[in-house]
Amino acid sequence: MPYRLTVIGTGYLGITHAASMADLGFEVLGLDVDPDKIARLNAGELPIHEPGLEPVLRRGLASGRLRFTTSYEEVAAFGDVHFVCVGTPQKRGEYAADVTYIDNAIEGLAPLLDRECLVVGKSTVPVGTAERLADKLARLSPAGAEAELAWNPEFLREGFAVHDTLHPDRIVLGVRTERAEKMLREVYEPLGEVPIVVTDYATAELVKTAANAFLATKISFINAMAEVCEAAHADVELLSKALSYDDRIGGRYLNAGLGFGGGCLPKDIRAFMARAGELGADQALTFLREVDAINMRRRARMVDLARELAGGSFHGCTVGVLGAAFKPNSDDIRDSPALAVAVAIGHQGGKVTIYDPIALDNARKAHPELNYGESAVEAVRGAHVVLLLTEWQEFVDLDPEQLGGVVAARRIVDGRNALDAENWRSAGWHYRALGRP
Ligand code: UDX
Repeated sequence: MPYRLTVIGTGYLGITHAASMADLGFEVLGLDVDPDKIARLNAGELPIHEPGLEPVLRRGLASGRLRFTTSYEEVAAFGDVHFVCVGTPQKRGEYAADVTYIDNAIEGLAPLLDRECLVVGKSTVPVGTAERLADKLARLSPAGAEAELAWNPEFLREGFAVHDTLHPDRIVLGVRTERAEKMLREVYEPLGEVPIVVTDYATAELVKTAANAFLATKISFINAMAEVCEAAHADVELLSKALSYDDRIGGRYLNAGLGFGGGCLPKDIRAFMARAGELGADQALTFLREVDAINMRRRARMVDLARELAGGSFHGCTVGVLGAAFKPNSDDIRDSPALAVAVAIGHQGGKVTIYDPIALDNARKAHPELNYGESAVEAVRGAHVVLLLTEWQEFVDLDPEQLGGVVAARRIVDGRNALDAENWRSAGWHYRALGRP
């Protein structure tokens, strides 16, 4: 009999993991403490925007292999392998991660575990958390050592969540026993040939944080080069292209622009610094402070450039903003560079109107004080300056001539180096971009 799986927490990670595992043929029971979310999921409705996930969810529900519940009793009785996929947001006013939801999950589940099973953490956590949770699990579960903990970090990207879950670059298994390793190898066997790295808990936890720290550093590296390019009248786009031909460097995550945001990279590098500090290894990660600072400076630079184009002040100036999501193909506005820029310009007196293909509702809820347009054309109508802040394909495909017909002045700042500068300039636009002459 294949193992029966449960997934605790139904955010991006949990929903995708539950639906994908059901698609692979497992019986899966998902849990969340939010009854509204559970009702929507059981009705085949996604509470998030994630391309390709809804059909997988619906297939799972229709097959009878996938269900969602709010009951820990049901989950404990059902599962052989319990995946913990709850969020670990940044603590308010601190760098450290808030692991309350993980502790709540273990405290909800453990006292009900009365038979052999595996509890598998997938959430991104400060190193040392797994060891602490393993003790807690052993203390609270009636099954004792029969209920074991493993750590199995997840590397999925929003927008590619299903693909990344079904075709991972690697699988990392932080385990204490051969039994745990064997169980997880069986669970992931349907994925076919995937490199598997077996580690202790701490290494497994660190792989995830190190991967995100590397990606953030790579983005901030090219954005630091963009700052130098601006000062030296050089072109960071061509610089990046030339660097990318070196296999050792590679071209991915080397796009200069407004920098990184979202629910992971910013908070993960901060939590990493905080944890290193607790461990007495803070010096090792002081460079991440610089990575964070470079990233935040891009937002400030964008506001400065926009103000410059507005003639030195935003007062009496209409600014059309294209993009609110932290990246294209997502409705996620968590720590979105685009929204941060829009809000800052609003604070400085600009009349900001935003359009985003999918994140508009989320943006409107978070920032009701800003204006919203129902299309790119609506958002830039009458604008003195247009800002492209999220590189949706829809924006890349915009016709500069058509847009030029509705704005008050043909001035655009390309915050993502996504547009064809020549095309826009030859349509009479004053085109500026980060890191380019
Ligand atoms: C990231 C990691 O990629 C993923 O492995 C991890 O599990 C979670 O965090 P995600 O947050 O979905 O995934 O976004 P990602 O596609 O990595 O982009 C992060 C941010 O970096 C976005 O704001 C994006 O616009 C920005 N970015 C990315 C750049 O500014 N330049 C680049 O070259 C690449």
